[in-house]
Amino acid sequence: MVLTPTLSKEQMKRHELLINRYFAERGKSLSIKYHHNGSKKGIYKVETQGSTFIAVAAAIDSSSDLLQEYRLLCELYNGAQFFFPRPFAHYSSDQGQLIIMEFLPHQQIGEFPKYPFSKPGGFFKEFAYMFGFSLTSVNINTGYFPSEPHDGNILVKADEESNLELKFCDAIQFQRGSLEVALSNALLSGFRDESKRFIIQFRQGVIRALKELEEKDEATCKRELEFLKNINDVF
Ligand SMILES: Nc1ncnc2c1ncn2[C@@H]1O[C@H](COP(=O)(O)OP(=O)(O)O)[C@@H](O)[C@H]1O
Ligand SMILES: [Mg+2]
Repeated sequence: MVLTPTLSKEQMKRHELLINRYFAERGKSLSIKYHHNGSKKGIYKVETQGSTFIAVAAAIDSSSDLLQEYRLLCELYNGAQFFFPRPFAHYSSDQGQLIIMEFLPHQQIGEFPKYPFSKPGGFFKEFAYMFGFSLTSVNINTGYFPSEPHDGNILVKADEESNLELKFCDAIQFQRGSLEVALSNALLSGFRDESKRFIIQFRQGVIRALKELEEKDEATCKRELEFLKNINDVF
């Protein structure tokens, strides 16, 4: 897939200057590659001696507040580090602002090769299961949920047995809310149809997180999730 940057050449040049400045101040030489279409921000893959990072850049007068996003990412990562890129730094100067974070080797759902996929039921059933598990784990550990869990905000990776690992991007879309709010949003927002289509797998993922993190038994989990019958009557 060829990505067409939505940013102007001048904006990208300013971003690159800022990234160069940040790493030069730390005595590092680097290479910068435009990585992904950000909606308001530029997302760059940065390679320095032996390390790879993601640098998210925005103009100082841009509507995206990277300091707020960085703080939220730190809070989410501290509570549920398995599901987020590790944040390293926020940097701001008169030229703009940056977030430096871990580069994830995971792929966007649209780009992920879904065949062959060795788990019965294929990619989307496994995805619904891991989405239920990841969403619930993050909510239990941080009190937040992803309000816009669309394809661009979730990255995936599989091991040899096709076990999926999910990571969430765009920390700024996370909102505070109870598990009830988190699950209702996942089922009703329209961003993730497979959580409804494969409701059994989605529910199993939710229950796995409740069992592992809150040490609840099956009957308690089912009782506590009764309210979801109003959204999907087989829940
Ligand atoms: N830490 C990361 N590692 C690898 N890729 C990333 C990382 N963060 C973001 N990306 C890539 O950039 C894309 C856009 O990031 P996102 O934070 O969602 O920005 P936007 O606010 O523009 O939607 C993601 O879909 C993902 O492909
Ligand atoms: Mg996004």
